[in-house]
Amino acid sequence: FTVDWDASAAEKGGWPSFMDKEIHEDPAAVADTLLGRFDEKGDIVLDEVRIEPDAFRSVDKIIVVACGTASYAGLVAKYAIEHWVRIPVEVELAHEFRYRDPILTPRTLVVAISQSGETMDTLMALRHAREQGSRVLAICNTQGATIPRESDAVLYTHAGPEIAVASTKAFVAQVTAAYLLGLYLAQVKGTMFRDEIHQVLDNLKAMPDKIQWVLDTQRESIERAAKRMLNAHSFLFLGRHVGYPVAMEGALKLKEIAYTFTEGFAAGELKHGPIALVDEGEPVVVIVPSARGRDTLHNKVISGIEEVKARGAYTIAVAEEGDPDAERYADIVFWRPACPTLLSPLVDVVPLQLFAMDMANLKGYDVDKPRNLAKSVTVE
Ligand code: G6P
Repeated sequence: FTVDWDASAAEKGGWPSFMDKEIHEDPAAVADTLLGRFDEKGDIVLDEVRIEPDAFRSVDKIIVVACGTASYAGLVAKYAIEHWVRIPVEVELAHEFRYRDPILTPRTLVVAISQSGETMDTLMALRHAREQGSRVLAICNTQGATIPRESDAVLYTHAGPEIAVASTKAFVAQVTAAYLLGLYLAQVKGTMFRDEIHQVLDNLKAMPDKIQWVLDTQRESIERAAKRMLNAHSFLFLGRHVGYPVAMEGALKLKEIAYTFTEGFAAGELKHGPIALVDEGEPVVVIVPSARGRDTLHNKVISGIEEVKARGAYTIAVAEEGDPDAERYADIVFWRPACPTLLSPLVDVVPLQLFAMDMANLKGYDVDKPRNLAKSVTVE
C-alpha cells in the first residue's frame, strides 16, 4: 500500500498552481497589511518604522526605487502620495537611479519597494542613497531580508510567502503599504484633515471585499476573453492616471507568463505613436476610470476606446459596474465594484492577473515557473 503524496501539491492547498492560489490571496494580502497599523482612535501608527515623526515632517521629496512589478506599485504610490501629501514623488527603476546623478539630500526619503528584499539592483540603489545622506525606508514582504536590514526603516507587507515567479498578491500588498505611508505622512505633516484621512482609511479597509467580489463574479468572462484572444500576437494595454501603472502591470504579467508581446502605456500617448500599431482584431485592454460624474478622465479614456475600435481593435475594458459607456464600446468588460479612483488599482489589477494566468494555462505553459525568469534577481 503506497500513498502518493506530492509536497508541492499540498502546499498549493488544492489550487492547480501557486499563482492561482496567490491571486486568490489578494484580499487577505491587503487586509493583513492593514492589520495592527491603527491606534484605538483610528490614527495610523507605524511603530516598526523607527523614523521619528519629526524626521517624517521634514521630508520634502520622495524617490521610490524598485524593479519590475514593485516599480508599478511605486508609480501608484506617486499619484496617491502627491495628492495627499503635496510633496514631489519620483519613481525610478533602481538600476537607472544609481547610474545617473540623482539629487539626494537629508530631507529626501528614498522608498525601496521589494517583495523578496534581495533584488541586487534595488539594494545597490538604496546603498547609494544612504551614502548620499538620504534616509531609506523599505517596503518589503520578507522578514529580515537584506534590503530591510540595510534600510533605516521598514514597513513590512503581510502578503505571506509568494512562490509563483510572477508577482500578484505582493503587488496589492505593496500598493496598500504605500497608501499607508502616504496617509501617515499626511497625518504627521497635517496636509489632510483627520476626518479626510479616516474616510480614505475606511475606503481602504473595504477594498479586500471588493477584490473578493471580482474573484467571485468575473471569473467566467475573464476565461472567455482568454479563450477568444488565445491566438493574438500582441496586446496593447492603456490607462490614464492610476490606470497607467495598472496597464503596465497587466502588460508585464502577460509578457512574463504567456510569452505574448505586450505594451502598456498612458492612454494619452495613443495618438502620439501606438495607434499606428492598431489593426483589425488587435486586442486592446483599457482601464476605465470611474464613470461617476462622467468627468474628463473617464470621457477621455472612453474616447480612446472609440478610436481603437474604429480601427478594428478588439477591446477589453476594466470598468466600474454599470458604466454605460464601457458596456457600449468595449467588446468584453471585466467589472469592478465602485471605489475611489486612487484606490482602484487594488481591484483593477486582479482581472489582469487572472487573464494572464488563463492565457498561460490555455497555452500549456507553467504559470509558476516561466522560462528565463527568476523570482528574485540577486545579480546586477
Ligand atoms: C524579478 C521578478 C519580478 C519582480 C522583480 C522585483 O524580476 O521576476 O516578478 O517584480 O524581480 O522583485 P522584488 O523581489 O524586488 O520585488
